[in-house]
Amino acid sequence: MEVKSNILTEETFIELYASVGWEPPCREQIRIALQNSLATFTALENGKPVGMVRLIGDGGMSFYIKDFAVHPDDQAKGAGKLLLHALEQFIRDSLASGWAVSLELISTKEALPFYRKMGFEERPCACDGPGMIKMLR
Ligand SMILES: CC(C)(COP(=O)(O)OP(=O)(O)OC[C@H]1O[C@@H](n2cnc3c(N)ncnc32)[C@H](O)[C@@H]1OP(=O)(O)O)[C@@H](O)C(=O)NCCC(=O)NCCS
Repeated sequence: MEVKSNILTEETFIELYASVGWEPPCREQIRIALQNSLATFTALENGKPVGMVRLIGDGGMSFYIKDFAVHPDDQAKGAGKLLLHALEQFIRDSLASGWAVSLELISTKEALPFYRKMGFEERPCACDGPGMIKMLR
């Protein structure tokens, strides 16, 4: 298993997105989203894409994880962990000395144990309310 950055194509995105049961958005949305991502990471098993994650953000203070999906046939084999490590390393490499930045996401219910294991803290907590979302059409 290996992880490569910025090789994610629209076709692979659609395939992996649908493989975990999500309805993909239209191709134009995907094209723009990939083009404007800070980076994408693709997990490959013998050269075949089995997982992906997309990083968006401002590069200075806030980073956000999107579209994290490992094909069901390849889950629980370490691909998710490798992808997250690559994404976090990408951010760390971009930080100036002394900087602290936030890495955020909205978890699916089933991915909660994964993210907990990877060191993420849940909201709401004693200090903060829940994350919020609004879809615009
Ligand atoms: C969540 C997801 C990306 C994790 O990827 P993965 O390749 O299956 O995870 P890994 O095999 O790298 O697991 C890493 C660690 O997390 C643990 N883990 C992963 N999923 C887990 C689960 N559902 N319950 C408990 N532990 C879990 C693994 O046991 C492993 O622990 P270890 O490091 O001690 O061995 C993947 O399961 C997935 O695509 N799920 C469906 C789509 C989804 O919900 N994506 C999240 C969007 S927010």
